[in-house]
Amino acid sequence: MCGIVGYIGHNEAYPILIKGLKRLEYRGYDSAGVALINNDGGLNVYKAKGKVADLESYCEDKDKTGSAGIAHTRWATHGEPNSANAHPHYSASGRLALIHNGIIENYMTLKENLVERGIVFKSVTDTEVLVQLIEHIMLSNNIELLEAVQVALHQVIGAYAIAILDRNHPDTIVCARQSSPLVVGLGKEGDYYLGSDASPIAEYTDRVIYLNDGDIAVMRLGEELKVVNMDNETQHPKVKQIDITLGQLEKGGYPYFMIKEIFEQPACMRDCMRGRINVDADRITLSAVIDYRERLVTARRIIIVACGTSWHAGLIGKQLIESMCRIPVEVEYASEFRYRDPVIMPDDVVIAISQSGETADTLAAIELARQAGAFVFGVCNAIGASIPRQTQTGVYIHVGPEIGVASTKAFTGQVTVLSMLALSIAREKKTIDDETYKHMVAELTLIPDKMEEALKTNEQIERLASIFTYAKNCLYLGRGYNYPVALEGALKLKEISYIHAEGYPAAEMKHGPIALIDSEMPVFVIATRDKLYEKIISNIQEVRARGGRVTALVTRGDTQIQQFADHVIELPDTQECFQPLIASIPLQLLAYHIAVCKGKDVDRPRNLAKSVTVE
Ligand code: M6R
Repeated sequence: MCGIVGYIGHNEAYPILIKGLKRLEYRGYDSAGVALINNDGGLNVYKAKGKVADLESYCEDKDKTGSAGIAHTRWATHGEPNSANAHPHYSASGRLALIHNGIIENYMTLKENLVERGIVFKSVTDTEVLVQLIEHIMLSNNIELLEAVQVALHQVIGAYAIAILDRNHPDTIVCARQSSPLVVGLGKEGDYYLGSDASPIAEYTDRVIYLNDGDIAVMRLGEELKVVNMDNETQHPKVKQIDITLGQLEKGGYPYFMIKEIFEQPACMRDCMRGRINVDADRITLSAVIDYRERLVTARRIIIVACGTSWHAGLIGKQLIESMCRIPVEVEYASEFRYRDPVIMPDDVVIAISQSGETADTLAAIELARQAGAFVFGVCNAIGASIPRQTQTGVYIHVGPEIGVASTKAFTGQVTVLSMLALSIAREKKTIDDETYKHMVAELTLIPDKMEEALKTNEQIERLASIFTYAKNCLYLGRGYNYPVALEGALKLKEISYIHAEGYPAAEMKHGPIALIDSEMPVFVIATRDKLYEKIISNIQEVRARGGRVTALVTRGDTQIQQFADHVIELPDTQECFQPLIASIPLQLLAYHIAVCKGKDVDRPRNLAKSVTVE
């Protein structure tokens, strides 16, 4: 959701900024812009509605020289996506240009004050208020940019990551962060890079600084990075080494990131388990469980907070933890949890699950849990993001950058981590016997191979997909561990093909959704062999009896369901609790191929953002 790129150094800024914007395209946006200080000291701003490619076309005949610049992709919140509302925004005199991620909550009050002082606004955004306010403070107090930013931010309520160029200081970018991520890259020869995450920076340097809330950084070419807070107190954020390869940021021969990421899952699961499951595949070691053993083992209750796909992983986590550890688990939408005055007790453990580690609702839920004295544990993918920094401990899923907006490998990574976590706590609590524990750990290590088997259904699913292209609605049914898989399958289809889809617990269908069933309604049933197998067969019969068209995911060798399903997709067998790791793969493939058949932009679906940093 919105992307920031900045560069100040010895090279031409424009190509670096455009490439950086392209690396951030996955976050979701609807307009883009760039500001450059040219070699004559002029500050040029170019903006365009649409994609970064549209911005490039617009810039074709413009002056793009200069080695200092900032650039932005905007996901509209205040004001429609058009070039006037796109960032960067000029200040009234044209001396400053500013880009912003986040939302300024008190922008109306600030704007009224500025309008009364004669400042004319050119957009309807909350962002423009910031640049006008900063310049107004600068000029009326005759102070420099950093001080004006400090004064201005004292007046601002909201979330922001901002970067500002000042025509009078072409060697400097000033940036600041509050509840919205910002990463500074330390280049060679005193060059600086800026990004809302590390992806636009990674190909230039592996040394980065993740700014903390309240930090204001001054990137001045050839000088050491200066980081202060609003009260001008020096801050000392640590330099971190990042480990992102270019291959991880590129499509590697696949037409879309999503399909690349679906196919990466076996390797990702191996990475996720590497160093955590020993070579004999009989023991899991998670340092967070060793370090906080007492806190986890004595938890009276676990509350999982998350959004979207991560929430679906949480539903699987609940079943894993309750069955193995005998600890009651509640799974909450972070967006509801934060506003409904929940009962949180000091002996609760709150597990926050997030791919990006920047989801605003999940961050707010964490804050609430911390204030109530609960112990907060993070399950996150993005290294160094806000959630791992705001939780007491946690486990990274280590599946590499996920670029496709529709989450795939992060989901299976989250479920893998939750499986390891449940097994580890269960062993410490002695709620699982040794033999079962070892058997399950061994089975978990076989999952990557079984995922490879599941991926072999790709061609069959590609053929099937064309049948469903014209569907208006689809129903996904599952039970037990496969119920969240049904929810996740439906979400994938909705997100990228724009076909309405519902995930339902199969037995609940007769309490309402069964009224929707007719021959026009494709029904996808996850019917792998487990303790509810016979029950789900009855549910399939209920669909068939009403003319519904059934596609069933079955365990390889199943001959029973073949007799009455329209299509069957065979999957390798595994233990019931690990079935979601296998069964989610064909549903990801199905959503992908249907969306491709419909000609949709799979990696950048309309209206969606990869990282939802506003509530
Ligand atoms: O980064 P997070 O895991 O916190 O994101 C949560 C949701 O926004 C995310 O899972 C969303 O539902 C995805 N688009 C799902 O594909």
